[in-house]
Amino acid sequence: MTIDPASPIPKYSQLREILLDWIEESGLAVDDAIPSERELGARYGLSRMTVRQTIDHLVAEGKLYRVPGKGTFVARPKIEMSLRLASFTEDMRARGFEPGSRDLARRIDPASGHLARLLAIRPGAPVHHIERLRTADGEPMAVERSNIPLAVAPGLADQRLAGRSLYRLLEEEYGVLLDSGEQTIEAGVCDPADARLLGLPAGSAVLLLQRRSFAAGVCVEVAISTYRADRYQLRSTLDPLY
Ligand code: GLP
Repeated sequence: MTIDPASPIPKYSQLREILLDWIEESGLAVDDAIPSERELGARYGLSRMTVRQTIDHLVAEGKLYRVPGKGTFVARPKIEMSLRLASFTEDMRARGFEPGSRDLARRIDPASGHLARLLAIRPGAPVHHIERLRTADGEPMAVERSNIPLAVAPGLADQRLAGRSLYRLLEEEYGVLLDSGEQTIEAGVCDPADARLLGLPAGSAVLLLQRRSFAAGVCVEVAISTYRADRYQLRSTLDPLY
């Protein structure tokens, strides 16, 4: 493919298509370097500024990443976020990753008014607060903060959790089988503490999830999670509106 100077399509868009073709079709693998901006400019007869504009876009889209002083490389494809009532463990295993989890904090707190409303319990009632760093093949993917009423899982504070599935534990130890849920997902900016945990520059884009999970109509968990936006994307099938 070459750049067509007579085309109404801007040159940076034409270069974008060429580079995407390389990445998707011509066997450029993840972590392979693409030619330098200078080389691309020379090869396609483009100014350095045009080449940079294209690469900036592809970096922002997560298709490429830059390593200062080294070059620009093909990024890994993003993981499609599950929109089902799956546990992190199940979801990662289904994708061929080894799930992991590191305990960051575990406390029993009195429920604030806001949390009590979400959990449908009385304000001040005791709630397990569990913060975990979730990993896939050892790579940090998300920070998850789960809130579970003490009444649902009384001895949970004494259970070893590191590396275990919380949903599995709820099922096996307390007979709690989650059967429905609701979730909001919104864009956010990572705070410095979570950014350190996730290995991201402070202020990076993240996806903020709030999930309420239910068992037989009872709210069992309110979880607030921070997922890496550079590793996750959402896909949905679209039905006609009418
Ligand atoms: C998902 C949900 C969390 C939930 C977790 C349980 O990631 N977003 O709300 O706490 O799954 O995962 P696991 O059973 O692997 O601990």
